[in-house]
Amino acid sequence: MSATASPLPLPRSDRSALPFARGLPLVGNLPMILKDPLGFFLRLSRTAGPVVRVNLGLAMGELLLVSDPAVIAHILEGNAANYQKGRFYGRLRGVFGENIILADGDDWWRRRRLAAPAFSARHLEAASWVMTSAVTGLVDTLERSARRREPVDLFAAVMELTLGVIVKSLFGVDVGVRADAITAAVEPVLREGDRRVWWPVRPPRWVPTATNRQLTAALADLDRVVYGLIDERRRSGERREDILDALLAARDERGEGLSDRQLRDEVVGLIVSGYETTATTLAWALEALSRHPAVEAALRGELERELGPRLPLAADLRSLTYTRAVLLETMRLNPAVWTISRQAVVDDVAAGVPIGAATVVMMPPHVVHRSAAHWANPEGFDPGRFLDGEPKDARKFTYLPFGGGPRRCLGAHFSMMEMQIVLATLLQRFRFSLIPGSLPERAVTLTVRPRDGLWMTVEAVATGRA
Ligand code: HEM
Repeated sequence: MSATASPLPLPRSDRSALPFARGLPLVGNLPMILKDPLGFFLRLSRTAGPVVRVNLGLAMGELLLVSDPAVIAHILEGNAANYQKGRFYGRLRGVFGENIILADGDDWWRRRRLAAPAFSARHLEAASWVMTSAVTGLVDTLERSARRREPVDLFAAVMELTLGVIVKSLFGVDVGVRADAITAAVEPVLREGDRRVWWPVRPPRWVPTATNRQLTAALADLDRVVYGLIDERRRSGERREDILDALLAARDERGEGLSDRQLRDEVVGLIVSGYETTATTLAWALEALSRHPAVEAALRGELERELGPRLPLAADLRSLTYTRAVLLETMRLNPAVWTISRQAVVDDVAAGVPIGAATVVMMPPHVVHRSAAHWANPEGFDPGRFLDGEPKDARKFTYLPFGGGPRRCLGAHFSMMEMQIVLATLLQRFRFSLIPGSLPERAVTLTVRPRDGLWMTVEAVATGRA
């Protein structure tokens, strides 16, 4: 494909100054990206530099691959108003609805202000009880597996756990069997989201393909349950400590709240953004611990010292600094949201890099986090580098598992709390070992998940439950 055929032209003089990965005729680099997106973007930025134009072929145009933290800081923070979610995320609207994750401009700002109170300290404290109760349930299941010496798919187990946590934090612990209906509906919705992001052409929703029929049925089930729960709560007028309560009570500056449709879309947005991200991070943390005995021993040491046999509570998490560091290091090497993208509204210059109007910029945390320019021993697993927390100030955008700027993840505290509670509770009680020869492969979807699950043996350790 010639450079002039791109549907996203930069001014010619600026374009020619940047390295260009042309790829194959007609399809550009798309086949290589679909085959191995993580490897492709990592290799490309290592060989061609921190800013590269990537040809995606006739159907999809071109994107700008950026791994320079100064350029990313400008796009996500310095001049964030000039960068919208754009056409890549737009492909998800037909599946996930219009919500805070996909919205732009004033619409996004209103949604963010309405949703933020749902993640206040009071609601996080209430959510911590949901998290503790969920992991206690998982402990019971794992104790049985340990006794029977049965291997367990820990990825499936934490997926079930994190979905239960988000659904109960949204709707209250008494959501009961309706949680199962939501669980069943969410998977097909997420998987269609995966397909839509990278496949250049997807059949429109009205074409009765097998996946479209499955998606329509799943969305109908999800709507039935979610609208039902919203309706019940509106009618009862009851106040609770859950996220739905906060969303129902939220008012914008004109005193207006969210309509039922907006509530439904926000709720679905929170489920899809909060569930698999947290589960994959927990799974990769368990996998990394099983391969790094010294790190595992240091983590156990902290749990012995700070908790002994008692369950971790929200108030303990501040002192579990090594547990936190293990999770931060896991997200450096395996960021669940492996890439973040934006589309420029008007021409701009970001830290010296010209970015033309309508250019799609891709800023993969997966690539930034493995850059030897910003991280010593970038491929090594070393939680010690995070004992003081996340990098700050000038180094801030060398680490962006939760994004950055005004659109930084709204659920960052929620998920860190959940992951610390779950990891601490599980490691207090069990030792997990990968089944020999079963090193999990990565499957790149909207998140990066272990392709065939995370099969491990579980062994009870001496510290008992309080
Ligand atoms: C390990 C877990 C998680 C990771 C790695 C993660 C990562 C991210 C990232 C990278 C973004 C920014 C995307 C962008 O700028 O394009 C984001 C946004 C968001 N996340 Fe998370 N997330 C996690 C968990 C959660 C949870 C548990 C929730 C809610 C319960 C949540 C809710 C959101 C929302 C609402 C946004 C959109 C914010 C906005 O655009 O204003 N996330 N997340």
